[in-house]
Amino acid sequence: MKSVTNANAVEIRGVHKSFGALSVLKGIDLSIGSGEVVCVIGPSGSGKSTLLRCVNLLEEPEAGQIFVGGVEITDPDVDIDAQRRRIGMVFQQFNLFPHLTVTENLTLPQRRVLGRAPDEAARVAVENLERVGLAAKSKSYPAQLSGGQQQRVAIARALAMNPELMLFDEPTSALDPELVGDVLAVMRMLAREGMTMMVVTHEMSFAREVADRVVFMDGGVIVEQGPGAQVIGNPTQERTRTFLSRVLDPAAVSLPG
Ligand SMILES: Nc1ncnc2c1ncn2[C@@H]1O[C@H](COP(=O)(O)OP(=O)(O)OP(=O)(O)O)[C@@H](O)[C@H]1O
Ligand SMILES: [Mg+2]
Repeated sequence: MKSVTNANAVEIRGVHKSFGALSVLKGIDLSIGSGEVVCVIGPSGSGKSTLLRCVNLLEEPEAGQIFVGGVEITDPDVDIDAQRRRIGMVFQQFNLFPHLTVTENLTLPQRRVLGRAPDEAARVAVENLERVGLAAKSKSYPAQLSGGQQQRVAIARALAMNPELMLFDEPTSALDPELVGDVLAVMRMLAREGMTMMVVTHEMSFAREVADRVVFMDGGVIVEQGPGAQVIGNPTQERTRTFLSRVLDPAAVSLPG
């Protein structure tokens, strides 16, 4: 495979993405080191999900390059399925198969995508359900679980594929507040274990505590980045300060118009 770069887990260079006339990503440069946890914050519509989706090849940037583990995934000749297999993605809506049990949700992709034998897939499923604290729910159906439990199953399902990188798009936004903590605890564990993670989140305390780096996006560009204590605790840019004052004190937002 051509285009092998250095050891960065993710390298995003000059990425642009538009939908029709709407320019959503206007030249994004971002490197993520192996084992690094990067939280991406920013207002609605700033392009956070689009950026994650480009990294997972769910969207195709019209300019720029993205490397994952030194392999250029934006190379037009790349095997998209093979590259996607290396990357786990967790969405706001858990996207579990409702007609399959928890275990089946974990074993099906392993068998279909990785070609694992049934007993091997089952073993890996149990192992990963234990990691997220849900081994006891293996025979349940998604509808029988709380949202937080469903999201932990979705994380276990991604982990069962042995990804080298995990992408999270607002994994706790659809959850009742009392269920958020269990999901964040699993993500904290992954971070401690050295998983490379790119996390779009509105959980400022999580970003501040867990992220090695916080990236603030607005209007399709990275406005500032650095340690959470700096970007969230003491931002240098006016746009970051305005955003943070809104998310940290939602009651202060005035209605438009
Ligand atoms: N498939 C698409 N087709 C057209 N426009 C899109 C598409 N996906 C996203 N957009 C637009 O691109 C812009 C950025 O969207 P994106 O979902 O990346 O924002 P975001 O930062 O994730 O916002 P939020 O915090 O609300 O999730 C928005 O204006 C959105 O409407
Ligand atoms: Mg989004």
